[in-house]
Formats: sequence, structure tokens, C-alpha cells
Amino acid sequence: MFWDNSMPLAPRPPEKRETDKTMSKKVTLNYEGQSHEFDVRVGSEGETGFDISQLRSRTGLVTLDSGYGNTGSCESAITYIDGEKGVLRYRGIPIEQFAQSPNFIEVAWLLIFGKLPTTEEYAEFVVDLRRHANLDEGMKHHFEGFPRHAHPMAILSAMINALSCFYPEVMDVDSPESFRNASARLISKVRTIAAYAFRHSQGQPYNYPDPRLTYVPNFMHMMFSQPYVQYECDDTVRTALNLLLILHADHEQNCSTSTVRMVGSSQANLFASCSAGVSALWGPLHGGANVAVLQMLENIHKGNLTPEEYVKLAKDKESGVRLMGFGHRVYKNFDPRANILSEQAGKLFAAMDRKDPLLDVARKLEQIALEDPYFVERNLYPNVDFYSGIILRALGIPTDMFTVMFAIGRMPGWIAHWWEQNQTPGSRISRPRQIYTGNQLSNYVPMDQR
Ligand code: SDX
Repeated sequence: MFWDNSMPLAPRPPEKRETDKTMSKKVTLNYEGQSHEFDVRVGSEGETGFDISQLRSRTGLVTLDSGYGNTGSCESAITYIDGEKGVLRYRGIPIEQFAQSPNFIEVAWLLIFGKLPTTEEYAEFVVDLRRHANLDEGMKHHFEGFPRHAHPMAILSAMINALSCFYPEVMDVDSPESFRNASARLISKVRTIAAYAFRHSQGQPYNYPDPRLTYVPNFMHMMFSQPYVQYECDDTVRTALNLLLILHADHEQNCSTSTVRMVGSSQANLFASCSAGVSALWGPLHGGANVAVLQMLENIHKGNLTPEEYVKLAKDKESGVRLMGFGHRVYKNFDPRANILSEQAGKLFAAMDRKDPLLDVARKLEQIALEDPYFVERNLYPNVDFYSGIILRALGIPTDMFTVMFAIGRMPGWIAHWWEQNQTPGSRISRPRQIYTGNQLSNYVPMDQR
């Protein structure tokens, strides 16, 4: 079924909320003998911010907040985080409630369309994802142009951008129907692109998506089936990977999602915006941390240094070493995702009747760090990346594909934010200001006089 316009889209963000009681709150800025009053915005969970959107036009001043740790870039109804209480909710639903019977596609619908799907809506979405799973045969040849050792995140970003060459209707950025089709294509094809990048790196033939399989089993089939030997995805793997993808699905204004919004604010299409999100996620301080965690655990496990020695290094600023998978810009207590993944790791190994020495190393590192004043004083706790790599490794996912798995999980969140921004009345191109600290007025000096 093709989308018809009766299909729901997330409710358009409200015009400026002039009527609610929060608009009565004001803040006053006193500077150089002048007073300036600005509105105070209070969100549905009590988050409060000063609306300085008129600051420069009224005062000639700008604010400065490198890393944006104190700056809200937008109002959003998609995900709520309380960093002090370790709360994470998707459209108001605590993530813990998805752990019982994890269904990534159901959560993807919730994030993008603003509510849990009905049975019919879910069934139709599944049909669309199945229909969009294949890549254009022309696209498949692009993989051959990459060297075998190419990083899969480079391939993923390039190929997602290339989707707009094959589906140019995505350029119609204001069309709900174009958005719905592009969303289904992205969520479905990101698996195929990821799997083909892996198969290319192994010199193995591509596996066509199997329409009889659901989302995660189809991905694992494309990754690991061999000619005449079909990969069978058991329930343990299917459940664990659905949960892992759900826990990565959105996280409000993180670096990569803010990148998607930034690029989308210029009215760049959804594929181009999510391609940029992949690039931002690649960094080791963001989504690349899950790879760095596993390398850290393997380094310790090989005996190159003890957990105690590693923690000591991580505390020494001169070492340039960080305890990867620890710390978070928002969570100053615990990352609820890390708690769920820590528990999931134990359950997974029990179900597989396996032990992983790296899990023991991780638990030892966590125990040492949580008792060390350096980490406690800085509110540094395990984040989503600390245990995710151990689970992915247990599921047979190769290490250099870990951040790709993060991107597959985060795709619904990127899509939801792109559309929410696109649909926000008065939304305009993002263009931060700066404080200039360079040369004052200078003259050009001809080269022979320098
Ligand atoms: C993700 O934003 C999101 O929501 C991201 C994410 C998502 O779902 O999208 O949650 C996913 O990116 C999780 C984070 C994955 N990255 C890592 O695990 C890399 C290791 N962590 C750090 O690099 C760091 O904690 C960050 C990047 C996560 C947060 O950086 P901040 O908020 O800029 O904190 P900071 O660098 O200013 O650190 C504050 C202090 C510093 O010490 P002091 O200068 O105060 O003495 O804490 C120290 C830092 O040196 N510190 C660490 C540390 N993290 C911070 N010291 C050792 N090891 C660490 N991991």
C-alpha cells in the first residue's frame, strides 16, 4: 500500500504558545545601564529556558556557549530526558516499558508519527518496509568502487546521500507523502546498505532482502547468510537486537541529531540530512565510542594493563586517555540505557550459555570507577556505549560495524526530528553567531614585500 494522505503525521508543533501561563513569565537582563525583558518558556515537564530570539535585534548582543551545553536549539515533543533522574521517554513513554517485548519498528513509528501504531498502521508500515528493502541494482555497483578496507560509516553516509539520486522525489521537502515514502525507504534500506558494506569488506556476495523475514532477522540474513546456507535468527538474537536498536532510537538534541536538524534547516532533503547525521555519529566522542569501549576492554583483557591502571590513566589529563563509555553531557546520574543493557548482557550470555571475559572486565571497570572520587565528583557513569559493544559482539556483529548499528537504531529519531523541524511554523535556517577574536583591520601586503 502506498501512503495516502489520511495517514497520520506527528501533530504539527504548535504556533508560538501565546496563551499558556508560561508566557507570563519574564526574565530581565541588565547591561550598561539598560534593562531588557525576555520571555521565559516552560516545557511540559517543567524545563525552563530564556527565549533570547530577540536578544541581538534589541541589544546588539549575542550569547556565547561553546558546545551548546546551556543552550536550547528548539522546542521538541519527541523525546524527554531528565539527566539528574536518569529518565528517558519516547513521546512520553519510559524506555523501560519497551524492554518487555521490544519491537523496534513499532518504536520507530511512535517516534516519527507521534503515537503508537494501530494494528493496521503497523501492518501497513511493515509492508512498506518490506517493499523498500532492496537497493536499486545501479546502487549496488557503487559498493565495488570502495576499497575493501573502507570504513562502513563512510560507505553508509555516502550511500544514504546517494539515495536521493535514485528517489529524487525526496527533494519535495514539504510533501507529507514524499516524507512518508522517504522515511520508509531510509529505515528499510539503511539495513541493506549496512549489510552490503559488510559483505563487500569480506569479499562475499550480497544477500537480497528476504520478504518473508521481519526487520531484524532480515538484516541478520543479509549480513550472515552464505550461498545455500541461510542464516537463521533465533529469538534470543532477535529480541536482543530489537531492544538495542530501540535504546539507540532517539536522544533529543545529541550531536548527530542536532546535525540532522542543522542540515535540514537549509531545506536540504531528508537523505542528505541523515547522511550528515551519520558523519557526526562516527566520532569517538559520540557514536564511535562503542568501538572504542571494546578496544579498551580487549586491551585490558590481553593484559596490556590492569583495570586499575587504565582507570588511573583515564584520570590523568596528560594521558589523553578517557574511560570510554563513561560520562555524558546530560546524564549526571545514570544513563537508563546503560542499566538496561548491563542487565541485558547478563541475560543474553545466560540464554546463550556463554561467558565473555570482556563483560567481567567491564563490570570491574565500572565498579572501580563508581568508587573513585574522580568519577563520582564529575558525575561520570556508564553511558549507552559502555555495554552495547559487548552485546553486539555476542550477536556476532563485527566491531567495525558497531557504530553502523548505532546509526540503524538512531535513524527513526533523525527522521522524526527532521520532520518536526520542517513542520515547525516559522522555522528558519540555523545560523549561530560568534565572538570574533582575530586581527583587527589590516591591509594586504604584496608578496615581494613580506
Ligand atoms: C553518546 O549527547 C547524547 O545524547 C549522546 C548519546 C546519544 O544517545 O546520542 O548519549 C550517545 O555519544 C554517549 C557518549 C559516548 N562517548 C563516550 O563514552 C566518550 C567518553 N566520554 C567523554 O568523552 C565525555 O564524557 C562526553 C563526550 C560523553 C561528554 O563530554 P562533556 O559533557 O563535554 O564533558 P567534559 O569533556 O567537559 O568533561 C567534564 C570533566 C572533564 O574533567 P575536568 O576538566 O572537569 O577535570 O569530566 C572529565 C573531563 O576530563 N571526563 C572524563 C570522561 N568524560 C568526562 N574523564 C575520563 N573519562 C571520561 N570518559
